[in-house]
Amino acid sequence: MQIYRARVFDTPTDPFAGGGLRSGSDVAIVVDSGRIVARADFATARERHPYAEVVDLRAGVLLPGFVDTHVHFPQVRAIGHLGRPLLDWLDECALPEEAKLRDETYAAGVATDFLTGLTSAGTTSAMVFGSHFATAVDILFAAAAEVGLRMTTGLVTSDRNLPEVLLTDVDRSVAESQRLIDDWHGRGRLRFAVTPRFSFSAGPELLAAGGALVADNPGIWVTSHLNENRDEIAGVAEIHPEALDYLDTYDRAGLLGERTILAHNVHPRDRELARMAEAGAAAAHCPTSNSALASGFFPLGRHLDAGVRVALGSDVGAGNGFCLLKEGVQAYFMQQLDPAGGVPLTSTHLLHLATASGAAALDLDAEVGDLSVGKRFDAVYVDPVAGQPLAVGLDYAESDEDALAKIFALGTPADLTRVWIDGEPVKG
Ligand code: GUN
Ligand code: ZN
Repeated sequence: MQIYRARVFDTPTDPFAGGGLRSGSDVAIVVDSGRIVARADFATARERHPYAEVVDLRAGVLLPGFVDTHVHFPQVRAIGHLGRPLLDWLDECALPEEAKLRDETYAAGVATDFLTGLTSAGTTSAMVFGSHFATAVDILFAAAAEVGLRMTTGLVTSDRNLPEVLLTDVDRSVAESQRLIDDWHGRGRLRFAVTPRFSFSAGPELLAAGGALVADNPGIWVTSHLNENRDEIAGVAEIHPEALDYLDTYDRAGLLGERTILAHNVHPRDRELARMAEAGAAAAHCPTSNSALASGFFPLGRHLDAGVRVALGSDVGAGNGFCLLKEGVQAYFMQQLDPAGGVPLTSTHLLHLATASGAAALDLDAEVGDLSVGKRFDAVYVDPVAGQPLAVGLDYAESDEDALAKIFALGTPADLTRVWIDGEPVKG
């Protein structure tokens, strides 16, 4: 049994629905076999658990582990290409790199880089866009099992508009996906997601084959892209003339439900928002990616008004890094700048988006997302080097919300000195 003694911030109540920041300056989180069994002020907890090991974290701030709802495994080595819109960036930067994962040795190296990137940035749960190669997906599952990441991922499928080496067909995609489901879905913290790349590279038959997998395997997940870029949206309309709109390409294939997470949705129609809300699907908002590819301003207010669940994604490698602190502050910037009028976000909103919202989108909120009694101990320790701007900011912050704003504004993976998943250290 351990007592983690720290200044703790988390968001067990939704700030978009009147909730606020829960904070305490000398909190004891009592953990037994990875589960939080008590939470009290330190003096009380010490009295109740005199023999527990005390982990003294009073020099910094303890947060729940971050939940990244959209991040691409094969793109870790392609982060940082600037100056292109989506379809050019895919052709020139992302897809040539993704083709290299056909080589198993290369894929294993990428899996190590990818998982190090995630855990170093404090991400403890993730919806991961996998690879077009089933062997690379096996390699990723095995590596994530070793690290202990709570990961949902799958075989990426496409049957057009991509380099030949990345294409599949209905029979092969179903056989490979079913084999991966049988081998990995529900093993430890791992789950499978049907992952058509996007309706620009998947025809109706391939999408329907994904829907049939969902029908045959209750409990598996779905992820893809939606309404990211205007040229992409126009292309999807040409490929899918039968569909009402972009969302409907997935819906009519049986891919839309409570276990569906769709990235971007920068340019939605009202009908699509209403239908996403009705189906219980979540949107993964990826602010640095939307900025880097000039995709547009995410209409957060329209999502909230329609009742669509929203969480945060790094979208590495179009996104500019793994750290959800950066995504949070970029979400804030973009809402500030949106000419159509954005939602004013506080640091409490940003923490909720980076933790509890993602946990809810992934249906992991009974287990993680905040540091309440009964949850698993997935946590991040923010401990900046003394004298650095973040350390100074925390020393001079005027309130807990102000201190949290400084963490989002100034925090980098280097400041996240310790990370735990299920009570086990994965960093530090
Ligand atoms: N749409 C289809 N593939 C991708 C991708 O890899 N990144 C982004 N941002 N959008 C996509
Ligand atoms: Zn993406």
